[in-house]
Amino acid sequence: MTRSHALGALVVCFVIFGCSQAVTLEVREGNSTCIKTELSASFSIQYNTSSGTSTVQVPLPTSTTVDSSSSSCGSDGSLPWLVAVFGAGHALGLGFSTNGSLYSLANLTLQYNLSDPSVFPEANSSDVVTVVSTSVGIWARVNTTYRCVSPASFSVGGANVTFSDMRMEAYMPGDDLSPTESVCTADQASTTAPPPPVSTTTVPTPVPTPPGTPEHGNYSVTNGNGTVCLLAQMGLQLNVSYLSQNKTVQAVVNLNPRLMAASGSCEATNASLVLTQEQSTTLTFVFTLNSTSSKYHLSGLSLVATWPNMTAPLSASNSSLDYLRSTLGRSYMCNSEQTLRVVPAFSLNTFRLQVQPFGLTTNNFATAEECQMDQDQMLIPIIVGAAMAGLVLIVLIAYLIGRKRSHAGYQTI
Ligand SMILES: *[C@@H]1O[C@H](CO)[C@@H](O)[C@H](O)[C@H]1NC(C)=O
Ligand SMILES: *[C@@H]1O[C@H](CO)[C@@H](O)[C@H](O)[C@H]1NC(C)=O
Ligand SMILES: *[C@@H]1O[C@H](CO)[C@@H](O)[C@H](O)[C@H]1NC(C)=O
Ligand SMILES: *[C@@H]1O[C@H](CO)[C@@H](O)[C@H](O)[C@H]1NC(C)=O
Ligand SMILES: *[C@@H]1O[C@H](CO)[C@@H](O)[C@H](O)[C@H]1NC(C)=O
Ligand SMILES: *[C@@H]1O[C@H](CO)[C@@H](O)[C@H](O)[C@H]1NC(C)=O
Ligand SMILES: *[C@@H]1O[C@H](CO)[C@@H](O)[C@H](O)[C@H]1NC(C)=O
Ligand SMILES: *[C@@H]1O[C@H](CO)[C@@H](O)[C@H](O)[C@H]1NC(C)=O
Ligand SMILES: *[C@@H]1O[C@H](CO)[C@@H](O)[C@H](O)[C@H]1NC(C)=O
Ligand SMILES: *[C@@H]1O[C@H](CO)[C@@H](O)[C@H](O)[C@H]1NC(C)=O
Ligand SMILES: *[C@@H]1O[C@H](CO)[C@@H](O)[C@H](O)[C@H]1NC(C)=O
Ligand SMILES: *[C@@H]1O[C@H](CO)[C@@H](O)[C@H](O)[C@H]1NC(C)=O
Repeated sequence: MTRSHALGALVVCFVIFGCSQAVTLEVREGNSTCIKTELSASFSIQYNTSSGTSTVQVPLPTSTTVDSSSSSCGSDGSLPWLVAVFGAGHALGLGFSTNGSLYSLANLTLQYNLSDPSVFPEANSSDVVTVVSTSVGIWARVNTTYRCVSPASFSVGGANVTFSDMRMEAYMPGDDLSPTESVCTADQASTTAPPPPVSTTTVPTPVPTPPGTPEHGNYSVTNGNGTVCLLAQMGLQLNVSYLSQNKTVQAVVNLNPRLMAASGSCEATNASLVLTQEQSTTLTFVFTLNSTSSKYHLSGLSLVATWPNMTAPLSASNSSLDYLRSTLGRSYMCNSEQTLRVVPAFSLNTFRLQVQPFGLTTNNFATAEECQMDQDQMLIPIIVGAAMAGLVLIVLIAYLIGRKRSHAGYQTI
């Protein structure tokens, strides 16, 4: 493969997506399968030539096979390891480990043979290079299949490994991939269903004109004995992208308070507000109180939307947010529009927001802590006022000086 061919292959890979066809690999011991994976992979490898460095893009070919003598199910006390070989001495290794409830990809190994001129033309070395990464970050629950249709890249030594269309399981309870899936974050962000192959090539359609400011709604959560424990009032707007008829659509949708039901729960350090609109949209806010510092914040937001125009339901959530920070015994207020980014496919716009998830003593909000944006906006009239006062003063002084001068003028004549 020449360099330009490799580049061509790379371009084709990105345009068609999935040009390197999915390969199925499995490790068996006795009659049972312990590791199985279906994936597309490509490797971006930099190597030295006599005239400098070159980078090649190598797809994992469909002719790849499992090297059963190196692979193992780990029955001898070692860890399960899948070693797949392709071409002239190239290999991909996937090592697994588990703690009983989760299993993870413990190491990712890439071995390539620089003396293979069809892959590494003009290499000035004939070494067989092995690179390993032990911090891949792929994990799933035991007895579930790890699924990641979205492409994911990992840096392994000086090479980059990109997996896509991946389904994988180790410590398998049966011979086939478990029907229950652990879905990677990238797939969750786009949609819960695997996007059809063509979808990634379509450019998101332009954002339609925003639907205007959403209606302002009042929501509350009551606890067991009927006392209000969480209060919120705000206008809400969703900014989501989802698949609709094989196209990624971006939509800005206002939530209608008259169609929304509020529920939730209040605990000592956790409170949630669940807003449901006609069973098709569920938006959940989770607030966390740090009792040491007496500060609370919005720590989680999730959205489940099943709209008729969606190819698959949209489910997006993030539980490590840090928005709407305030102090116990106070409410949080932000009249300015705020954008709360949750995942790439979902952000929430809030309008004229006031919430109090903890420490309500009456059915009304306590004193508010206002967001920085409001404070900045309050500065504007003050600055304008000060500037106008200054201007009046300058005109007055100019007038007085002018009058004095003209008096002086008359006197000399
Ligand atoms: C594998 O299956 C065959 C036929 O089902 C059986 O005869 C054989 O004993 C099994 N081997 C092991 C190691 O379980
Ligand atoms: C690997 O990816 C990183 C970041 O995307 C990039 O800077 C680097 O050049 C890539 N290396 C190769 C060999 O493609
Ligand atoms: C290229 O050669 C330099 C100098 O010998 C070496 O430091 C570097 O690791 C080599 N790069 C690769 C990708 O082999
Ligand atoms: C290969 O080329 C690099 C620079 O292109 C050089 O630094 C390195 O020493 C060369 N290695 C050999 C074995 O010739
Ligand atoms: C590396 O490639 C060369 C040329 O294709 C081949 O002769 C050699 O056996 C390969 N090395 C390994 C370890 O397979
Ligand atoms: C990768 O993991 C497997 C099994 O967990 C282990 O046998 C192998 O030695 C590891 N390889 C490296 C290079 O760490
Ligand atoms: C396995 O690891 C996860 C994450 O580190 C942890 O939440 C879980 O409790 C562990 N399970 C066991 C059985 O140790
Ligand atoms: C996984 O499935 C096997 C067989 O169905 C069962 O014995 C085991 O307890 C399960 N493990 C977990 C963590 O659910
Ligand atoms: C009832 O309300 C009081 C405060 O009004 C609270 O301290 C108490 O925990 C509540 N009881 C239950 C069961 O929610
Ligand atoms: C979506 O794509 C699938 C497979 O690519 C095709 O069968 C189906 O007809 C497409 N649907 C629409 C509405 O374009
Ligand atoms: C609570 O706040 C204290 C003091 O600011 C901090 O040290 C601690 O890490 C916080 N706890 C949590 C769970 O965030
Ligand atoms: C999809 O449906 C939702 C709710 O029915 C609607 O608000 C949204 O505008 C629709 N999107 C498109 C692109 O038609």
